[in-house]
Amino acid sequence: MLIAQISDMHILAEGWLAFGSVDTNGALEHAITQLNAMTPRPDAVLITGDMVNDGYEDQYQALVQRLTRLDIPYFPILGNHDDRELARSAFGQLFFMPEDGPIHYTTEIGGVSLIALDSNVPGKPYGKLGAEQLEWLDAALMERRDRPSLVMLHHPPFMTGIEFMDSCALRDGDKLAEVIAKHEHVERVLCGHLHRPIQRRFAGTIAMTAPGTAHQVSLDLSGDPDNATWISEPPAILLHRLGVDGAMISHQAYLGDYGPSVPFSDDHTRSDA
Ligand SMILES: [Fe+2]
Repeated sequence: MLIAQISDMHILAEGWLAFGSVDTNGALEHAITQLNAMTPRPDAVLITGDMVNDGYEDQYQALVQRLTRLDIPYFPILGNHDDRELARSAFGQLFFMPEDGPIHYTTEIGGVSLIALDSNVPGKPYGKLGAEQLEWLDAALMERRDRPSLVMLHHPPFMTGIEFMDSCALRDGDKLAEVIAKHEHVERVLCGHLHRPIQRRFAGTIAMTAPGTAHQVSLDLSGDPDNATWISEPPAILLHRLGVDGAMISHQAYLGDYGPSVPFSDDHTRSDA
């Protein structure tokens, strides 16, 4: 069982570049090509929010048009840059999406339960789940206590040390922790938002954020809340693999061409240089 996680694609209308220089649409195309070519191919692709940059209809059209090339079932959630109703109509054909209200849902991927949450607060950069959704999560986890579960939401429920991003984290992360702590079968809490790979022990499980498929958030641990910067570090995805021993291992896989894998036996090290 192999589950890929991509995040924060920030798709734009055709022909536009993010910040005037980042080809986010092209980056998603590369990611899809790489995912389709993987051996073994992932069983599912989780998309942890900020699918489009401004929540516009033509951006969702550009997104869906690209995702038709993905030969793997995919499961999206909303980020703060998404628009709930436009996303719902863009993904209307996905059977698991509710017809109204927050876009939270459950599905089964092989022997693993996926529980998708909606932390979008319209018009705000921060996230919140709310009491009703947390109750729904608690019940959903209770029903699935016989198998490993992944919980995914866009906003991480923890502080990262990157100050300007921490100011727009999940507002009710402590309440989420209370629910997660009741359910030992939660293997991971999977998030986006940070455009960086970050892990933390959280409520008895592991919470982590995924890198972006295009641009990354700069690693600034200075504590300066005004330093909101991005950087062209290599884009990446996460791969969560459930082994035969029942343990889940998370890998980070870079997107892009870094040349072929070379056998260690091909030793052409020169000692006479
Ligand atoms: Fe983002």
